[in-house]
Amino acid sequence: MQQQEAAGQAPRTSLHGHWSSRLAFILAVTGSAVGLGNIWKFPYLAGQNGGGAFVLVYLLCVFVIGMPVMMSEILIGRRGRRNPVATMALLGEEEGHSRRWQWVGAMAVVTGLFILSYYSVVAGWTLAYVQKSMSGVFVGASPAQVSAVFESFTGSWAQVGIAHTLFMAVTIFVVARGVERGLEQAVKFMVPALILLMLILLGYSINSGSFGLGFKFMFSPNFAALSWDGVLAAMGQAFFTLSLGMGAVMAYGAYLPEETSITSTSAVVILADTAIAILAGLVIFPLVFANGLNPSEGPGLVFDTLPLAFGQMRGGVFFATIFFVLLAFAAWTSALGLMEPAVAWLVEHSHRTRAQAAVMVGGLVWSVGFGTVLSFNALSGFRLLRGTIYDNLDYITSNVMLPLGGLLITIFAAWVMCRNSSADELGGAGAIFKSWRFLARYVAPVAIAFIFLRAVGVLG
Ligand code: PHE
Repeated sequence: MQQQEAAGQAPRTSLHGHWSSRLAFILAVTGSAVGLGNIWKFPYLAGQNGGGAFVLVYLLCVFVIGMPVMMSEILIGRRGRRNPVATMALLGEEEGHSRRWQWVGAMAVVTGLFILSYYSVVAGWTLAYVQKSMSGVFVGASPAQVSAVFESFTGSWAQVGIAHTLFMAVTIFVVARGVERGLEQAVKFMVPALILLMLILLGYSINSGSFGLGFKFMFSPNFAALSWDGVLAAMGQAFFTLSLGMGAVMAYGAYLPEETSITSTSAVVILADTAIAILAGLVIFPLVFANGLNPSEGPGLVFDTLPLAFGQMRGGVFFATIFFVLLAFAAWTSALGLMEPAVAWLVEHSHRTRAQAAVMVGGLVWSVGFGTVLSFNALSGFRLLRGTIYDNLDYITSNVMLPLGGLLITIFAAWVMCRNSSADELGGAGAIFKSWRFLARYVAPVAIAFIFLRAVGVLG
């Protein structure tokens, strides 16, 4: 297959099929981008780091770093049209460098699997919280009662394990069905549903009586509360939320039709992802303020603080259920992106069908996931380097592997690929191309390297 597709011949096609339209691709990348990172992580990070000031820095990072890196990933993916490992090998060679660039692709694929192993566990919590919200357990509950619900649930490895298993099963199911019948069908339904649910919740929060307070918290910058660490957190979050640095966007780019504009598509996805993160903040903070709760609660904001807020309000059972369904959908479409690179790789490198590959990759991730499941109960006392197994996985993937992957991918697109190749993918060497190249050659790598070095402790 490789010889047939040597450079300069008929346009390459992907073995896995293609998105049926530009919209399908936009929905797929948006689905991958919008996840627990937007609805669970972004509001708590903003809450801890001065609200508006954090939001401002985050926006800057999304557009200045996120946009050029996303364009780099898509253009590499579409040019290679294979899984990230094979694409990096092929282009490395074709651009007169080395096939060894495949190791960057390999690292990206492995990063995705590690992230999915713990992402699926937290996603399982959201499934369990759909059921808990429906049961009415939060109605009128005290803070201690809400916390007890969370602790008794996460304390039971069997309950967390079942939820994780269920979430992996539905993810495997969709990926097994393929690009058009699986991924595309799922995102076509779930991404619009997610936006609709978000708007319903926004209506609810506008009526909470404290919308103004929440709005002000999100948009009036309090720079005193933003530390240097907060700036770094904003950069890291921009990266994580756009699913960059681990080959998801590259794999999805491989299925992108030739004529679609990479620049405008990236812009739409980034705007949609950012809008949803902001809307999540505008849903969550008014509810938090309406109930006199603490916005800088941290990671417990969604599972601890929010059910408490819903429990005190009229219609709380209904809206809490909607909220956790929304979160589960968001996590589901992200999980597809986390799994696709490895499945595409296995299909291309073995004679297995996609369904077999999805079950094998999913089974592996599922078993690794038990490291995280047990981190909250049986093995919570087991500490290594950064803490529990989950703490280590989270730290290594988010702070080391994603920045490193993103940095190398961007360097490849902007420094290793020749100008003509990237200009070709970006629709010619006009002003847009020149701005991309400037950002991708200088601004993004320096900024990412900075986060990375800071995260691993080299820059204090
Ligand atoms: N972007 C997703 C989120 O915000 C997480 C993710 C990272 C998904 C990398 C796919 C790849 O939750």
